[in-house]
Amino acid sequence: MKIKLRKEALTIPNLVQDLNGYTIMHISDLHFKEYMKKDETFNNLILSQNSDLILITGDFITSDNDIVPLLDFLKKIKARDGVFATLGNHDYIYSTISEHFIFSKIRGIRKNNVQRLIESLSGIGIRMLINDSILIKRNKSTIFLEGTDDPVLGKPMISDKDANYNRSDFKILMSHSPDMLYLPDFNKKSFDLMLSGHTHGGQIRIPFFGPIVTSTKFTQKNEVLGLFKKNNTYVNVNGGIGHSALPIRINCPSEIVLITLEKI
Ligand SMILES: [Fe+2]
Repeated sequence: MKIKLRKEALTIPNLVQDLNGYTIMHISDLHFKEYMKKDETFNNLILSQNSDLILITGDFITSDNDIVPLLDFLKKIKARDGVFATLGNHDYIYSTISEHFIFSKIRGIRKNNVQRLIESLSGIGIRMLINDSILIKRNKSTIFLEGTDDPVLGKPMISDKDANYNRSDFKILMSHSPDMLYLPDFNKKSFDLMLSGHTHGGQIRIPFFGPIVTSTKFTQKNEVLGLFKKNNTYVNVNGGIGHSALPIRINCPSEIVLITLEKI
């Protein structure tokens, strides 16, 4: 498996000293299939970065038949402050509409056992944040981390500001699709960083044109891959590891992203 390690440095004015140099490993859209288990590239690349926090923005699976080998694959990844995740649309259903067209004679759309997926991931120490939040402590400083339900098939919600949010020094949102940026709930809080996936960067990118397909409703073409700033929020859209409808990637390699916070 060929995976690119994309490194991004976020320069944050007035960042607290405890978080200067803090590293976040962002993983998305694994679409795990059993053949991946034989390849150590993914685990080795992640573990070699020794990151402070690992965040996974959904689409763990395409089919829930793969949950057992997935757990075996993911149980090795660890980070100092933990591994947290949220769900994607493929965690809910077996195939997309496009897959349905391609494979309809062989297999139809069916629901995955999402509850089993959540419980299984929790069992190996991956804390699921689905319309939920947590405070991560680093010395005397804190990171507020919130995760929404999948914006495509779930009911994504951001809670009202609370004491944890108010006293935190850095605020992160995980939401599977960057369309979350355009939903009214997004404006309930002011996040320093939002992490998304879902788009796979388009999977096929034409030079000087970009992706042909974005799989989003509201997100602009130049917002489906990479790091950008939207108002005061840094947004990282991860190109993902696997694929959904077509097993093809052109000018759009599988990637994991190491984000470092830097004080200026
Ligand atoms: Fe995906």
